[in-house]
Amino acid sequence: MRFGEEEAHLDLLAVRPKYRRAGVGRRLMEWLEKSAVVAGISVIYLEVRENNKQAQAFYRKLGYCRVTRLPGYYLGRESAISMGRDLWSPALSTAT
Ligand SMILES: CC(C)(COP(=O)(O)OP(=O)(O)OC[C@H]1O[C@@H](n2cnc3c(N)ncnc32)[C@H](O)[C@@H]1OP(=O)(O)O)[C@@H](O)C(=O)NCCC(=O)NCCS
Repeated sequence: MRFGEEEAHLDLLAVRPKYRRAGVGRRLMEWLEKSAVVAGISVIYLEVRENNKQAQAFYRKLGYCRVTRLPGYYLGRESAISMGRDLWSPALSTAT
């Protein structure tokens, strides 16, 4: 994760296959989100490959919404879906 002044950008997140679906990814995200809130950051953005439906489901479950589609984002060949989450939204905040 890259932490900016008001926004953070998640560049990469992966859990080793044998440890997936055990809550590790969710806990990593919650830890990153709490760090962002402490730093005064209000929103996290990320990109995920358009064909990576599993990761999109994961981020949706954590409260991330689709922002836009980015054609050719990966080396001009594959499109990305940009997703984001407002950390200060009462309905979604985990910063308790
Ligand atoms: C995406 C990824 C990080 C998720 O990590 P994880 O530790 O398996 O996720 P969690 O166990 O915390 O999942 C939390 C919730 O997200 C959703 N979710 C997670 N993986 C999912 C999948 N493959 N399909 C559908 N929903 C999924 C579920 O609702 C899950 O809760 P549940 O298991 O109680 O149903 C992991 O699958 C991964 O490393 N994938 C390969 C790399 C990648 O695609 N990274 C993201 C793009 S940068």
